[in-house]
Amino acid sequence: QSDTAKVNSIECIHIRDHEIETWYTTPYPEEYNRNKILYVCEYCLKYMNSRYIYHRHQKKCTKVRPPGNEIYRDGRISLWEVDGRESVIYCQNLCLLAKLFLNSKTLYYDVEPFIFYILTEREDINDGSSRFHLVGYFSKEKLNSSDYNLSCILTLPVYQRKGYGQFLMDFSYLLSRREFKWGTPEKPLSDLGLISYRSFWKVKCAQVLVQLKELCDVADSILNVSLEDLSNISGMTPTDVVLGLEQLEVFVQAQDISSKHLNYGIRIDSWQRIESIANEWTRKGYQVVNASKLLWKPMI
Ligand code: COA
Ligand code: NA
Repeated sequence: QSDTAKVNSIECIHIRDHEIETWYTTPYPEEYNRNKILYVCEYCLKYMNSRYIYHRHQKKCTKVRPPGNEIYRDGRISLWEVDGRESVIYCQNLCLLAKLFLNSKTLYYDVEPFIFYILTEREDINDGSSRFHLVGYFSKEKLNSSDYNLSCILTLPVYQRKGYGQFLMDFSYLLSRREFKWGTPEKPLSDLGLISYRSFWKVKCAQVLVQLKELCDVADSILNVSLEDLSNISGMTPTDVVLGLEQLEVFVQAQDISSKHLNYGIRIDSWQRIESIANEWTRKGYQVVNASKLLWKPMI
């Protein structure tokens, strides 16, 4: 990055009461990219280049939640389904915001083919009203022939490392299961995306194994279950299941010399260890997806 590019880039965004340092640059229109601080309304995602305009906007803006339909509510957590074709400006602004924390090329303006799932935390005000604070989101391509169930994912840095990424990932697979599909995130993943997915796949596979153990009432060290079965239960593609099982260190592979077939199996050294990993999210107090709270049907 050249020095001039650095001078001209946004160093920090002001959103709600947070000042968040940016990680990468975003193609905001030139006049906005000149400022060190960019002010963003957390409800309509309008971006502004002065504190004065921002305060004036906060008084005028009537929005207290993302656009679209609330498809999930559990306690203070809600998920909103926003169609890129219906809320073009909101979704473009969301993508521009996300780009500040993504090194890769992502889309910003061509949002129509995507659906956005916005995660918020509800705050109840004394006067009986509520506000829904933006925590993160993921996007998903509406029509795709591949298995992709997530295109881009972001947790705002002030909310990171609290399990919201795992929550969003879990949610993307829940949608896949409701579509009777196997899903996987779009590649390539960012470094943080990969670290987080690895952690997710590991815990998810542990949960599925424990679920199977309880269902079948077996506590054997060798599990007779196919990758397809694990995919059907988890919504994860067999490839991602294998990655999860490898993270768990329960995946064993052997080349059958006579038949040239690759055999695999699941060998559990300690169910206690698997159970402990399966409980990781609740142990850490993470928000977990409660499938019964989802009010949603696939579009097609
Ligand atoms: N360093 C090390 N491990 C990390 C990590 C980090 N910075 N971020 C996540 N992990 C791993 C950890 O195992 C973590 O569990 P722990 O905090 O209990 O140790 C686990 O992933 C889950 O993290 P979680 O809190 O659920 O994720 P998050 O809410 O922080 O969100 C991302 C993860 C990827 C969405 C977030 O880092 C992000 O928005 N990054 C910028 C955008 C991006 O790169 N998106 C992915 C590509 S589209
Ligand atoms: Na965390």
